[in-house]
Amino acid sequence: MTGPDWAEVWRSLAVLACGPEKGGQRKGGHAREAANAVRAARFDAAATRKASERPDTLLNFVLERLRPEHTVLDIGAGTGRFAIPFARVARSVTAVDPSAGMAAALFQKAAAEGLSNIRQVNAAWEDAQVEPHDVAFCSHAMYSSPDLAGFVRKMELKARGICFLAMRIPSHDGVMRELSCRVHGQPHDSPNFWVGYQALYDMGIYASVVMEPGIRCWADDSLDAALQRARRHLGLGCNTAFDDEIREALARRLSFRDGRYHWPDGMRSAMIWWEPSR
Ligand SMILES: C[S@@+](CC[C@H](N)C(=O)[O-])C[C@H]1O[C@@H](n2cnc3c(N)ncnc32)[C@H](O)[C@@H]1O
Repeated sequence: MTGPDWAEVWRSLAVLACGPEKGGQRKGGHAREAANAVRAARFDAAATRKASERPDTLLNFVLERLRPEHTVLDIGAGTGRFAIPFARVARSVTAVDPSAGMAAALFQKAAAEGLSNIRQVNAAWEDAQVEPHDVAFCSHAMYSSPDLAGFVRKMELKARGICFLAMRIPSHDGVMRELSCRVHGQPHDSPNFWVGYQALYDMGIYASVVMEPGIRCWADDSLDAALQRARRHLGLGCNTAFDDEIREALARRLSFRDGRYHWPDGMRSAMIWWEPSR
């Protein structure tokens, strides 16, 4: 008996993650960049708020391993949640990101701090031309890449030392797991740590893992907003066929308190790390 082909599970979830309800990759040119700038500002505000709420276990874990002489590759650096703290302690950081909106926000933040050791490469990791660095790091930027093995092998090729991959962990008993089983016939609504770790294991990578200690549960102002969130996560686009089932599950499983609907699901990340064998 063979188990699931985890690379294939990742691939199909990544394709789903790039659907019309997620990512907005179908917009072109100026419209896409305007949307990206708005998204970058929103993303940065949310990241800054979250960073102020509790210590960042994953960031601190990497910082403890960085030395002043290290060069760091931050793949999908976004607005610099990691790149900026890395640049404060390492020799240099190369921030790879295809979004000009994210890159502009990162540049502004680096300039405001007087950091001149961040180089930006405006490209997807798959296309980026970079030299080897001491450390290769990627947080939440691999979900729209169907070929996880190719993504990871390129990281290994460009890392003289450690590779780090931070990914979200789905709740083991969440509403999204229940709904994904009903809608997609399997428990995952998107690429995640559970699928990614096993895909790496099937590549012969025996990685270590650091878990964030707690989950930040989602809360919505109305059941309609929760329905929209569920539909977005399920990649349903304009398909309303499952709305009744989703509403039923939300009414049964979300708890209403302080004027909001609270999910058992939420955001929690794990970081996979390993030293590629040469
Ligand atoms: C959710 S943000 C994460 C930002 C940051 N790493 C963090 O954890 O806060 C994802 C970022 O990855 C970028 N991204 C998406 N696909 C990518 C790819 N194939 N290669 C490099 N960056 C990518 C996006 O443009 C976006 O800035």
